[in-house]
Amino acid sequence: EWSMENFIEEEIRKIREQVGDRHVLCALSGGVDSSVVAVLLHKAIGDQLTCMFIDHGLLRKGEAESVMETFSEGFNMNVVKIDAADRFLGKLRGVTDPEQKRKIIGNEFIYVFDEEAAKLKDKKMDFLAQGTLYTDIIESGTDTAQTIKSHHNVGGLPEDMKFELIEPLNALFKDEVRALGSELGIADEIVWRQPFPGPGLGIRVLGEITDEKLTIVRESDAILREEIKKAGLEREIWQYFTALPNMRSVGVMGDARTYDYTVGIRAVTSIDGMTSDWARIPWDVLEIISTRIVNEVAHVNRIVYDVTSKPPSTIEWE
Ligand code: XMP
Repeated sequence: EWSMENFIEEEIRKIREQVGDRHVLCALSGGVDSSVVAVLLHKAIGDQLTCMFIDHGLLRKGEAESVMETFSEGFNMNVVKIDAADRFLGKLRGVTDPEQKRKIIGNEFIYVFDEEAAKLKDKKMDFLAQGTLYTDIIESGTDTAQTIKSHHNVGGLPEDMKFELIEPLNALFKDEVRALGSELGIADEIVWRQPFPGPGLGIRVLGEITDEKLTIVRESDAILREEIKKAGLEREIWQYFTALPNMRSVGVMGDARTYDYTVGIRAVTSIDGMTSDWARIPWDVLEIISTRIVNEVAHVNRIVYDVTSKPPSTIEWE
């Protein structure tokens, strides 16, 4: 008889049998899928699991800290945090094309992952655990897990870097993964986390990425998230974030003329991200968000709300 408890027990038994006394490496992003995989693996094999969390400098405000707090401190897992922001941002300097930015971030992710995995030689990693879902197998997605997967399957890696894959979620749909996560004791904030793209804020700063622009997106996004949460709209809205179009416009602050950036608010309802409608955030909530961003984030003097559905727009602005 199928139940979540039985499923967990059965998966744990299978994982232990497959892994024996060897070691597993897991790329932890803080998203639902990799979080559930990590916690499940940890339950099965404890310290034989090492998680790698790569901070590419394009994460949201407080995200790296929260991942470390949850998994390293909370669940007491081995989590290796890699601070690779300089490396990623260096590679992205001067790059304006969205697909080029994606490619650079994706490739760099693999290089960093491989290099850092090779450094863990004292515990030879035989397995790579991934949060591949049933739907990922059907439609090959663009997320990092998939990239890692195809990468490690095509070879070109040193002989000692060949991993066997462990994919305990590959028969599950997203809603089942969330139920599994809750059953495993993972907090709602993670289980119900909105989707966040692999390239992170890198595709929400339109055009060239600079530190100043990253700060604007990061800070404005934090305000938006805070107010959406306060308004109790988190579960209703599928995805919500700010984006920074590459434009400045004229404004007035006190008696001085300003010439500063415009921040765009994007909030959508969707089932699977393939199509979406723009979310009807109540005007009074939008007003608070707008006022706070302009007052609290330097170099922003205008806020616009994206009222296009997908299609013809995409959810992200790049
Ligand atoms: P679009 O912008 O294509 O987004 O309507 C649909 C969903 O996919 C996410 N997205 C990405 N996820 N790498 C990812 O891992 C990417 O390059 C990427 N681009 C878009 C987006 O956030 C939305 O949930």
